[in-house]
Amino acid sequence: MLYRSLIRPLLFQQDPEQAHEGIIRLLETLTATQSELLRLVPVQTHPALQTTVAGITFPNPVGLAAGFDKNGKAIPFWHTCGCGFVEVGTITAQPQGGNPKPRVFRYPEQAAVVNRLGFNSEGSEVVAERIKRLRQSGIPLPLPLAINIGKTKIVEEEAAVLEDYRAGFRRLAPLADLVVINVSSPNTPGLRQWQEKAKLSALLTLLSEEAKGLSEAVRGTSVPLFLKISPDMSEADRDDVVEVALENGLAGLIATNTTIAREGATEEMELPGGLSGKPLCEKSLEVLRYLYRQLQGRLPIIGVGGISSAEEAYARIKAGASLVQVYTGMIYEGPFLPRKINQGLLRLMERDGIKSIADAVGVESR
Ligand SMILES: Cc1cc2nc3c(=O)[nH]c(=O)nc-3n(C[C@H](O)[C@H](O)[C@H](O)COP(=O)(O)O)c2cc1C
Repeated sequence: MLYRSLIRPLLFQQDPEQAHEGIIRLLETLTATQSELLRLVPVQTHPALQTTVAGITFPNPVGLAAGFDKNGKAIPFWHTCGCGFVEVGTITAQPQGGNPKPRVFRYPEQAAVVNRLGFNSEGSEVVAERIKRLRQSGIPLPLPLAINIGKTKIVEEEAAVLEDYRAGFRRLAPLADLVVINVSSPNTPGLRQWQEKAKLSALLTLLSEEAKGLSEAVRGTSVPLFLKISPDMSEADRDDVVEVALENGLAGLIATNTTIAREGATEEMELPGGLSGKPLCEKSLEVLRYLYRQLQGRLPIIGVGGISSAEEAYARIKAGASLVQVYTGMIYEGPFLPRKINQGLLRLMERDGIKSIADAVGVESR
C-alpha cells in the first residue's frame, strides 16, 4: 500500500533508468554499511516452499530476474524482499555502455516496460572481483546465486563470439551456484541468431566442456548451466533448443526473456526494444507450456514473464515451472512482491491440498 500510494508516484516522476540506478546505488550503500543488519532478516522459507532444482536447494521458488541487479551490487539484500534466489547480469566479458539513452520506458496503465538497454555491463572482470570479495568474506550468501552471461556487442565473428562467452564464463562461473547463458536479449544485434541450432550447439558444447573442466579443477561439484530463451521463437526452433539442450547436458531452461512482438500492446509501445510485464504474461506461459510438454520432465524450467501476483506464479508452476522469477512486477507492485507471492502460494497450495512446490509443478497436465 505504502509503495503504491507514496513511493511509486515519486519514483515514476523520474526517468525509469535514473530511478532504477538510484535504487541500486542506495542498496549498494545499504549492503556495504548495514550487512550485519541485513543478515538478521531471515530468508523467507517454509517446508512447503522449499524446493530442490538442479541439485540446489532453494528456500522458496521466487527469484529476482536478470537485469535488475546487473552488476551484482546488492546481492546480500534481495532475501529481505522475500526472494528465494537471485540472478545477476547479464554480464558481458568486456565492459560496455549499452545503447544510447533514453532506453527504458514505462507504461503504467498496461503494467509494462519496454527496454533497449543493450547489455550495459561493468564487464566480467569487475563483477567477478565484486562477487569474489563477497564470497571470500566467509559469510555464506543468503540465497543461491545465478550469474547470467551474454555477448560483448563489438565481438561479431563466430569464433570470437565463442571465445567471448568462454572468457566471461571462466571469470564468473567459479563464483556462481548456477550459470545462465543468455542468447535471447533482443537488444544486442545478432545475439538471437545464437538460438539457431548449429550455433547454439557450438556454444553449448563449448560451455558444457568448460563447466566440466571447472567442476574437476575448481569446485568439486558441477556447475549447472541454464539457457534463457526468447518468447519469439517458432515451435520448430523451440524443438531445436530442447534437443540441443538435452544433447549438451544442460541443467535447465529459463522461459522467457522480453518480446519484440507487440500483440496485446498499445500503439505507444511500438518502439524498438523488448517488452516485459503484463502484456508478456500469456505468451511466456504459452512458451512454458509448450516446453514442458516437449521435455516431459527431462529438464526443469524457470518461468518468467509478466508475473505480478501469487495466482500468476501458481499458474506458472502448475504449467510446469520448477521456479519463477519477477522483474517488471517489482516495478509496479513494489519490492516485497516476492514475499507476497510466497504467502499467496502457501494459501493456494493449502486450498488445493498440495504439499510442496515440487508436487505442484506441472499438475495442470497430469
Ligand atoms: C529493464 C530490463 C532489463 C533487463 N535486462 C536483462 C538482462 O540483462 N538479461 C536478461 O537475461 N534479461 C533481462 N531482462 C529480462 C527479464 O529478466 C525478464 O526475462 C523479462 O523482463 C520478463 O519478466 P518480467 O515481465 O517479470 O519483467 C530485463 C528486463 C527489463 C525490464
